[in-house]
Amino acid sequence: MQKFIITGGRKLRGQLAVQGSKNSALPIMAASLLCGEECVLWNCPRLTDVYAASRILNHTGCKCSFSENTAVIDPKDVTETSIPESLMHEMRSSIIFMGAMLGRTGECTVSIPGGCELGPRPIDMHLAALRKMGADIREEHGRIICCGKGHGAKISLAFPSVGATENIILYAVTADGETVINNAAREPEICDLCGFLRKCGADIKGDGGSSIVIKGKKQLYGCEYSIMPDRIAGATYLAMTAASGGEIILTNACIPETEPFLSVLEQTGCSIYTNRDKIYLRSGARLNAVKERIRTMPHPGFPTDAQAVLMAALSVADGTSVFEENIFDCRYRHVDALVKMGADIQVMGKIAVVKGVKGLCGADVNATDLRGGAAMVIAALTADGTSTIGNICHIDRGYEKMEDAVRLLGGDMRRS
Ligand code: EPZ
Repeated sequence: MQKFIITGGRKLRGQLAVQGSKNSALPIMAASLLCGEECVLWNCPRLTDVYAASRILNHTGCKCSFSENTAVIDPKDVTETSIPESLMHEMRSSIIFMGAMLGRTGECTVSIPGGCELGPRPIDMHLAALRKMGADIREEHGRIICCGKGHGAKISLAFPSVGATENIILYAVTADGETVINNAAREPEICDLCGFLRKCGADIKGDGGSSIVIKGKKQLYGCEYSIMPDRIAGATYLAMTAASGGEIILTNACIPETEPFLSVLEQTGCSIYTNRDKIYLRSGARLNAVKERIRTMPHPGFPTDAQAVLMAALSVADGTSVFEENIFDCRYRHVDALVKMGADIQVMGKIAVVKGVKGLCGADVNATDLRGGAAMVIAALTADGTSTIGNICHIDRGYEKMEDAVRLLGGDMRRS
């Protein structure tokens, strides 16, 4: 099993281009199933989750190939509508292939996504919505057997679920009639998915707001599309640089979409300037704690995916910060590793109280999940001494070659 070896204590300095968004690339790759012609995706991140999605596409008969950061998907020949458990479990978010496969062929068999990394991963809202749109769905021994070409419906989501919103959109764009999603997720990745689908000929309005209206079309075409920058990867490298006391110019960043994170980060005392697609950050001598409670909320609230990485940076801040995790049931699994490095963090249910310490010490830890693993890298880069981080397969799911990015910024990090 590979691990990262990190020696901390250096101020990170330099310029870094933000990778393409994992959480945009995955639904857009699923959406390519709906097109009758080839799709070319620019700025596609090279991630294990993206390669898992390509294996699912190739399993169905589509042809998916990569060159550098470009994915070419030829979805003309879909011959297989059942996705095996082994492929479904490679990536927790593989459930978004359900709506696309149903929309393309009128049938699909998938698996219930595993839980545990961040807590249970229920899909009750996905299934209820697709059933309301006419899908016949049976669950048998962990497999979900669906059939039926969809029809328009009015769907009100109990919670603005990103995945459920995506699955409804993917089923609705070729369904008969009009679908209205109320209380839809407003995440920027939803807008990117809809931007791709509109380029393929779909009729979608209102994305980015709470009510999305989709008019089904008989046929969608291929297109070339550039995937948006990854706002969470950008937030990760900003938090990493801030914690190290350094300075960074992030290029190819998406400023408005990163704003909910930036508005909290600037409360730590960092100087942050933005200009077109660039974010410039200079960190002070020592970060200040964030006075107001940091509540994770659906977009445009503070993103749950940035909770762990900001916590790592605030673990060495001057003062006490309080987090409230409102999206996932167990998204504090990284805390034990940070405490092992000397952080002072108390977790009580949804609340985590982070008392900043003067410094951390290197330790041997194991990544628990994608963003928790990134938090451990940030802590190790600020710690005295050397740390090892195991289970880095979690980190490779969402960050392109993180060790290269860190070394570009002057950090001491290698993969072994
Ligand atoms: C997406 O996950 C992202 N993943 C997550 O990013 C992100 O944290 C999450 O949205 C919230 O922004 C991808 O886009 C691939 P949800 P998703 O459906 O769609 C509950 C990362 O680190 N829920 O909005 O699974 C659910 O249990 C990943 O990049 C139901 O109860 O998130 C959770 O508590 C992690 N029933 C909450 O809603 C359902 O039917 C939010 O889930 C669906 C969801």
